[in-house]
Amino acid sequence: MGVTKSFFIALSKNQVLNSAAKKWGLKLGAGKMVAGTDIQSMMQSVKELNSNGISATIDSLGEFVHTKEEAVRAKDAILRTLEAIQSHSVNAHMSVKLTQIGLDIDPAFCLQNIQEIVAAAEKYDIFINLDMEDYAHLQQTLDILEALLKQYENVGTVIQAYLYRSEKDVENLQNVRLRLVKGAYKESVEVSLQEKKEIDENYLKLIKIHLQAPGYTSIATHDHHIIGQVKTFIKEKNIPLDSFEFQMLYGFRSEMQKDLAKEGFAFTTYVPFGQDWYAYYMRRLAERPQNINLALKSLVSR
Ligand code: FDA
Repeated sequence: MGVTKSFFIALSKNQVLNSAAKKWGLKLGAGKMVAGTDIQSMMQSVKELNSNGISATIDSLGEFVHTKEEAVRAKDAILRTLEAIQSHSVNAHMSVKLTQIGLDIDPAFCLQNIQEIVAAAEKYDIFINLDMEDYAHLQQTLDILEALLKQYENVGTVIQAYLYRSEKDVENLQNVRLRLVKGAYKESVEVSLQEKKEIDENYLKLIKIHLQAPGYTSIATHDHHIIGQVKTFIKEKNIPLDSFEFQMLYGFRSEMQKDLAKEGFAFTTYVPFGQDWYAYYMRRLAERPQNINLALKSLVSR
């Protein structure tokens, strides 16, 4: 991992900056990648995406939850967002990080919170994706998914192609709606591939496996090489267009997002919003050093 990437991952974990940033409003160029700090402004962005034939997966941002009160506040914010999806009649679902609703405090308490969220979403026919965080939380996330799937169908998760174990996980989750990604965290050589070429190869392999399985596949990448290879594969294998979608993050390759939707592919944009934007934004800068220019430009133009 390059120095720049490690630097921005370290910044994303800095709790002093994280709490300071909540008071700043969107700064450092974050407004290009975060759709506002409140539900109203986020909904405007979602409506605009919908008008271009693009659906949204909404992330009510939140990091470093240490107390049950904070977790309950985060859960309530997610429930309010679900109500807003329903009342604004937008084409959207939600992405939830389990640490935000108490996974590090008490897994049983976290399970209760996510059950409440999935049950509320089910009433409105809204899907809930459990975002995948670092390796330390992976098994707990899959265990919670398994518990939820006994009761609900409107839930799925994310599998990261950089992990050695992911092929087995994709095979075990054949019937489940999965978002497939390369992986955003810094993981050790014991558990994960380190070379881009190997990660890309494994990514394509996992995509091909899940595209041929019954579960819906969300291919979440900005990588046009991967997207091109997927297009070839779905033609070759006659994979139905309603069995998969492409996903990208809000503010990334916006023209390509619209073009893919125009070509007739189902497309969903990941739309993060909220006051807790800082760690999310630092992880995005870590992934793509070119984005750092954005941050620097906005610093000098203040
Ligand atoms: P990568 O960063 O490897 O880029 C490949 C190539 O694509 C680049 O070399 C460049 O040519 C081109 N490219 C990429 N971005 C570009 C840009 N902005 N403009 C122009 N060209 C560009 N991770 C995780 O661990 N858990 C999760 O739950 C999620 N969830 C998630 C949802 C969604 C919708 C997305 C898109 C991503 C995630 N991720 C994630 C993040 C994911 O794991 C990964 O870190 C990033 O998507 C970066 O990898 P890419 O596949 O986009 O390509």
